[in-house]
Amino acid sequence: MTGGKSRFDDIYVQPDPRAYFTRLAPLEYEIPHHAQPVFRREAAERAALDNGRPDRPVVLDVCCSYGINAALLNHDVTLAELYERYTSDTAGRMSTTELAAWDKEFYAGRRRPQALSVYGLDIAAPAVHYAQQAGLLDGAFTDDLEQAPPGPELRSALTDVGLITLTGGGSYVTERTFAALLDGARRPVWVSAFVLRTVSYEPVVRTLATYGLRTTVDPSRTYPQRRFTDEREQRYAIEAVRELGGDPSGREEAGRFHCVLYDSRPGSVS
Ligand SMILES: C[S@@+](CC[C@H](N)C(=O)[O-])C[C@H]1O[C@@H](n2cnc3c(N)ncnc32)[C@H](O)[C@@H]1O
Repeated sequence: MTGGKSRFDDIYVQPDPRAYFTRLAPLEYEIPHHAQPVFRREAAERAALDNGRPDRPVVLDVCCSYGINAALLNHDVTLAELYERYTSDTAGRMSTTELAAWDKEFYAGRRRPQALSVYGLDIAAPAVHYAQQAGLLDGAFTDDLEQAPPGPELRSALTDVGLITLTGGGSYVTERTFAALLDGARRPVWVSAFVLRTVSYEPVVRTLATYGLRTTVDPSRTYPQRRFTDEREQRYAIEAVRELGGDPSGREEAGRFHCVLYDSRPGSVS
């Protein structure tokens, strides 16, 4: 399903984020850093749309893992600081329970006044559980919407959602997940997704269109995601990008996966 991309399944299901950051540091995984200002802007604009309503829209981060996008959205913190924190000797000496308590205090102290509630969806139960313990998520769901419709808890939560965000998940979730989410929505939902150029997002774009969402994308503006693990992975990526009509020169050919940003909002679909 992830094609020729290297797999990192083991670091997605640890009791805390230390292995995730330690393994991804040498690969310079950076897409949440690029998403941070975009998601902050989208969240603010989406919240402004609901001015006057008593309940603010909730952000649903799909493939949320340990709550990294929630951390960057709602707290005065950078991805570089998170790498430093979770690979530090101090963190290395702690139990998971101690780390979660240390994080809870840290994030509470960095909370931004304009913070919005964030729900997380990820099939990795230990990761979303950690994110909740650390105070990053207001709701955590492990439904696999590629396989089955949402359970009652997620179904009920979807009625609050006004913005869906995605980084690092475009190879894992398809139009099935987005259709299930939109089926349950009761408020206008916007979708902001950073998707690798090795993956076609067209099926999602078409599905979102059936829910009245119009997607915009600037294919010339790309965002580096991470370095390739090896030459084999780079060859796969270059070929996949070419197959989808992209030009890998200066991007994947230079050694990194690149994403484009897809923005979907209610509007007439041309
Ligand atoms: C590369 S990580 C991205 C984590 C985070 N968004 C980031 O950018 O740092 C991909 C995540 O997708 C999750 N995932 C895989 N299949 C999924 C599915 N069907 N539904 C939801 N999450 C899924 C994995 O468990 C993993 O946590």
